Amino acid sequence: MSKRSILITGGAGFIGSHVVRLFVNKYSDVQIVNLDKLTYAGNLENLSDLQDAPNYTFVKGDIQDKTFLVEVFKKYSITDVIHLAAESHVDRSIEGPMDFIMSNIVGTANLLEAARATWSNLEGHVFYHISTDEVYGSLGEEGFFLETTAYDPRSPYSASKASSDHIVRAYFHTYGLPIKISNCSNNYGSHQFPEKLLPLMINNIVNNKPLPVYGEGLNIRDWLWVNDHARAIDVIFNEGKIGETYNVGGWNEWRNIDLVKLLCKKMDQKLNRAEGTSEKLVTFVKDRAGHDMRYAIDASKIEKDLGWKPSVTFEEGLALTIDWYLENEDWIQNVTSGDYQKYYEKHYSNR
Ligand code: NAD
Ligand code: TYD
Repeated sequence: MSKRSILITGGAGFIGSHVVRLFVNKYSDVQIVNLDKLTYAGNLENLSDLQDAPNYTFVKGDIQDKTFLVEVFKKYSITDVIHLAAESHVDRSIEGPMDFIMSNIVGTANLLEAARATWSNLEGHVFYHISTDEVYGSLGEEGFFLETTAYDPRSPYSASKASSDHIVRAYFHTYGLPIKISNCSNNYGSHQFPEKLLPLMINNIVNNKPLPVYGEGLNIRDWLWVNDHARAIDVIFNEGKIGETYNVGGWNEWRNIDLVKLLCKKMDQKLNRAEGTSEKLVTFVKDRAGHDMRYAIDASKIEKDLGWKPSVTFEEGLALTIDWYLENEDWIQNVTSGDYQKYYEKHYSNR
């Protein structure tokens, strides 16, 4: 095969921007093509440091447009795909599921079709689909999600991701398309759109606004530093087996309320506020519809088979994350300057 040319979709978003940066900097002989629609969640400011990199190209476009995708595959002689583009926020999927169905399901099918249409010989190519642990549904107090756990998605978001995972696997079994899939737990870190739990709470603490905790705050999520997810994607892309699924997580479960309280404590220290100041902002609000109780990944397979493990402790990752948001208040201003305030008012005013 000629020189590698990797299409990374959704590279202007949170996780995608970390993956693009890692690949552009680490693989100078590989062409990285970042295809992104630039929805509210995609911001080129996330990648301003790469603007002049000779092995980096940005293409604005929508994965809902199959003809356009085939053109991109041909124009840039795409050899591999790392597919992250998706609508990603559960609350938005509850308020309006169709964008999720169109981008996450139809968009993924279009990408698979573009690969099938342009890769005449499938040998040596990789189509790597990035997914979530939310496809497995909700755990009780015990147990972990394994790669073999049956799918049981509950939200329109997780159902759209589950559907796309099934379609990707179907292309492996039916057409022999060389696919890989990973299902990761909740990510945290820099450049995450401030509608998600951690950046939302950091931003509200800075601005002395209420901290809206859904229900009683007893739901559990398993948190992984985004840079460690990007490292896992690199390892799976290069060393994972074709046709396989890998679960990615950091064995790091937190009840929402405990996490928010920890964050309040750390923020009080950073902002030189008296201990307990930020915690007073915690406000319990109406629960999310169909709110999954607990997610927890068993990451043994990627650890044993590929030798990956997180590079930072949660304490370290959280400190780095808080510092980044405090040093980049302009970024928060910029990405929330569009329709986000309207979304925020509508979403939280009637809770
Ligand atoms: P994000 O919302 O921050 O970014 C998504 C990106 O996709 C944005 O840049 C957006 O512009 C782009 N996009 C959306 N629709 C598109 C379309 N139709 N065509 C082209 N581009 C489009 O999301 P994220 O948190 O970075 O998640 C990236 C991927 O990782 C998603 O597939 C998500 O399901 C998965 N994932 C996320 C997490 C998490 O905790 N955030 C965990 C596991 C898996
Ligand atoms: P979120 O960051 O939206 O990720 P996901 O729903 O994909 O896990 O939410 C993480 C957890 O935090 C989830 O249990 C919902 C809860 N949550 C709140 O309590 N308040 C909020 O304002 C948000 C956005 C989330």
